[in-house]
Amino acid sequence: MSDNLTSKEYTPQELKEAFLKMYGGDEASVRLYSSPARINIIGEHIDYNGGKVFPASINRYLYIAIRKRPDTKILYNDARFPGSYEFDVNQTFVYDKANDYANYLNGILSQLKERGFKFDCGFEILMASNIPAGGGISSSSALECGFAYAVIDTFGFDLNRIEIAKLGQMSEHNFMNVKCGIMDQFIIATGKKNHAELLDCNTLEYEYIPLDLGDYRFVVMNTNKVRKLADSKYNERRGQCEEALKILQNNGVKIDALCQLTPADWEKYSTLVADPILNKRARHCIAENQRVIDAASTLKAGNLEELGRLLNASHKSLKEDYEVTGIELDTLAETSQKQEGCLGARMTGAGFGGCAIALVHKDKIDSFISNVQTAYEKAIGYKAGFFVCETGDGVARI
Ligand code: GLA
Repeated sequence: MSDNLTSKEYTPQELKEAFLKMYGGDEASVRLYSSPARINIIGEHIDYNGGKVFPASINRYLYIAIRKRPDTKILYNDARFPGSYEFDVNQTFVYDKANDYANYLNGILSQLKERGFKFDCGFEILMASNIPAGGGISSSSALECGFAYAVIDTFGFDLNRIEIAKLGQMSEHNFMNVKCGIMDQFIIATGKKNHAELLDCNTLEYEYIPLDLGDYRFVVMNTNKVRKLADSKYNERRGQCEEALKILQNNGVKIDALCQLTPADWEKYSTLVADPILNKRARHCIAENQRVIDAASTLKAGNLEELGRLLNASHKSLKEDYEVTGIELDTLAETSQKQEGCLGARMTGAGFGGCAIALVHKDKIDSFISNVQTAYEKAIGYKAGFFVCETGDGVARI
């Protein structure tokens, strides 16, 4: 696997050893959990518009080692990130900038407490993530959902995987001030190896679809551009969609979410949204939702060429209508699209940096990476990261 996304990778066993070195005690008392990253094959920025999305959990994991404590202390440590944090199960958890990554975890604890779950003792954890932070393949949702699952399982709380996804989303909304949709947390909580998941974000109904790519593989390409969702225009885009929806509703269009409109409906109603920016945003959502439906049936039919075309169309729409790509993602996606053996490429996740994905023939992967890397470095001035991904399971106890 060609990979320059991360330096030292931890195996679960190495994490367990590091845990025992840090906290002492015996091996049998430590529980280990894994939480995957995700790619979104198609369906971008429409989870919060009641659309359908098509993500897959992949074989990049955050590992969490956890053990109950005899007292009421909570200890958080990370094998790769600086920062050692101590809290108490009986305290009230609020966002505090100084708590850095611990905010994601405290966000989950505050949600659990709000739902009436009681902790009879404290716990200690050590984590190690092999998912690039801020890289657009959901390192933060892996953290939220992996932690939530580890705590729920360790304390015997009765919450299913969909509820875990909702806890993660609420933690993001309330603690991190990112008004994200449900896609990332949902796929991380419910993902299944060898499958992608067609999720209807309006109803939360979902279907596993075998991700049978034949001789093709998804290559993940990291722009290595530093960004944070909260600093980005993510919430602004969400607000623009809400405005467009309100305009349509005020003009008598009976919908609760933009993605309830088909492309044919949009032909009829588009002039109602006179503001050109709002119009473009809505157009993206409605067209992208249709592309997801088409991509799922295309994949079922084994037509990878058509899937590739849909990926390219999605990127173009995210670049021109939704305006969430930027030079780094455009360079990666557009250079990829021109390479021999590549059927299609697009940004994945929130955009503004982060990662893109490309569907590439397995025999062309080395030349593909080398060509795209050369073009990227020339245009951007630093290197991108590449790795070939496979699917992986959702959050699990190891
Ligand atoms: C981020 C959010 C998701 C989704 C994507 C864009 O990953 O967390 O909810 O909106 O961006 O599709």
